[in-house]
Amino acid sequence: MLRLFSPFDSVASRRSPLHLSCSDPIAAPFPKRAAARATAVVAMSSGKVVCVTGASGYIASWLVKFLLQRGYTVRATVRDPADTKKTEHLRSLDGATERLHLFQANLLEEGSFDAGTEGCDGVFHTASPYYHGITDPQYQVLKYTEDCAIENGIHFIHCNSLQEIFTRSYIPFVSYSVPYYVAFQQMTYTYSGIDFSLRFNLQAELIDPALKGTLNVLASCKKFSIERVVVTSSMAAVAYNGKPRTPDVVVNERWFSSPGFCEQEKLWYVLSKTLAEDAAWKFAKENAMNIVTINPAMVIGPLLQPTLNTSCAAILNLINGSPTYWNSSIGWVNVKDVAMAHILAFEIPTASGRYCLVERVAHYSEVVKTIRKLYPSLQLPEKCADDKLFVPVYQVSKDKYRSLGLDYIPIETSIKETIESLKEKNFVKF
Ligand SMILES: NC(=O)c1ccc[n+]([C@@H]2O[C@H](COP(=O)([O-])OP(=O)(O)OC[C@H]3O[C@@H](n4cnc5c(N)ncnc54)[C@H](OP(=O)(O)O)[C@@H]3O)[C@@H](O)[C@H]2O)c1
Repeated sequence: MLRLFSPFDSVASRRSPLHLSCSDPIAAPFPKRAAARATAVVAMSSGKVVCVTGASGYIASWLVKFLLQRGYTVRATVRDPADTKKTEHLRSLDGATERLHLFQANLLEEGSFDAGTEGCDGVFHTASPYYHGITDPQYQVLKYTEDCAIENGIHFIHCNSLQEIFTRSYIPFVSYSVPYYVAFQQMTYTYSGIDFSLRFNLQAELIDPALKGTLNVLASCKKFSIERVVVTSSMAAVAYNGKPRTPDVVVNERWFSSPGFCEQEKLWYVLSKTLAEDAAWKFAKENAMNIVTINPAMVIGPLLQPTLNTSCAAILNLINGSPTYWNSSIGWVNVKDVAMAHILAFEIPTASGRYCLVERVAHYSEVVKTIRKLYPSLQLPEKCADDKLFVPVYQVSKDKYRSLGLDYIPIETSIKETIESLKEKNFVKF
């Protein structure tokens, strides 16, 4: 029988295992290059109990999978444990029957993470809203009367309707010509007939869950003297400060994004991650806590969860008929590398500080070129969304990541894995 835990369960009852089915949906092992290191630390990790917040998410699902593979007992927090779309893929992971425990927790509720974190050796805090549908801090209600569709639980809305609000988004979900559709997941909306209302509330939907949520999780970790907390931050908290980024510039862990710059540029998701990481370091310092941050760029690779996440949507949007690609250069990294980096940052005693995770910074035109090489018959965007010079690439230091004993999966492999996974999950057909 499936047993879900609430904050009111006693510690003893929370240690009872869930009874879950156990077949692995995607048999993709963690990176080979990490295998030697992984084997070496298995004995050290087995028997430990860790908590993963936002466990049903894209990155967290891989993290849970690898933790179970390494013998950990995993306490997985989700907002709604009864939502099978969010939990079934976790329940079917190898080892889940014996060692996966689901807890209900919401970033916005104080004390919500107490039950999940109490008695843990380590905590991985990944939960945070990740989408870019916000360009104005004012509460907005937008109405649409046509060109809306729902498929696989994802809302597709014609870009003409959304051009305005996405103009200054961090990620190019909008092309400026039609026909083109944009995929959403985490939206507050009302749906009646074919009318949509999309509501954006910067503070309530993005900043509070990221910032207050991080402090809520850390407060629980402090209460139970957690040995080490690994916080999923982002390159968003590293590289956005107005300093030039050109091919000769090497961004590293000593770079910090500037909240003022994010506000000025209306980079709201970037702002949420910048504020959250800054608050995490301050809280850790004031309370003498041991935290490490993992700062990935755009994460791609196979999806374990059945729903479409924001970063994989960036690849989907290139292969589903968009006529243009975005004039942007961003870092890319494989989700399996990101998950392993979280684990090793917990396991290796000397791990500390921040870890930038970028295999390569590539312009969207280069990503399209790679896709064309891999899938010559696919219809791909032929031109850039604007006529300006291409935004230059830059470098990101790999030293700290490599100090974990890992090497990167090449971007070409990551792109192929993403597309194959999107195909397998019917997000695209060809
Ligand atoms: N993917 C990337 O490219 C990327 C790059 C750098 C950093 N990151 C960071 O990595 C983390 C995970 O991202 P992801 O790509 O895996 O995103 P994702 O698939 O959208 O997962 C986000 C998770 O956050 C949870 N969440 C959101 N609001 C919440 C709330 N109010 N209370 C509790 N949980 C809440 C979601 O829970 P529900 O399942 O209940 O909705 C979901 O599990 C985030 O911190 C993100 O900022 C991602």
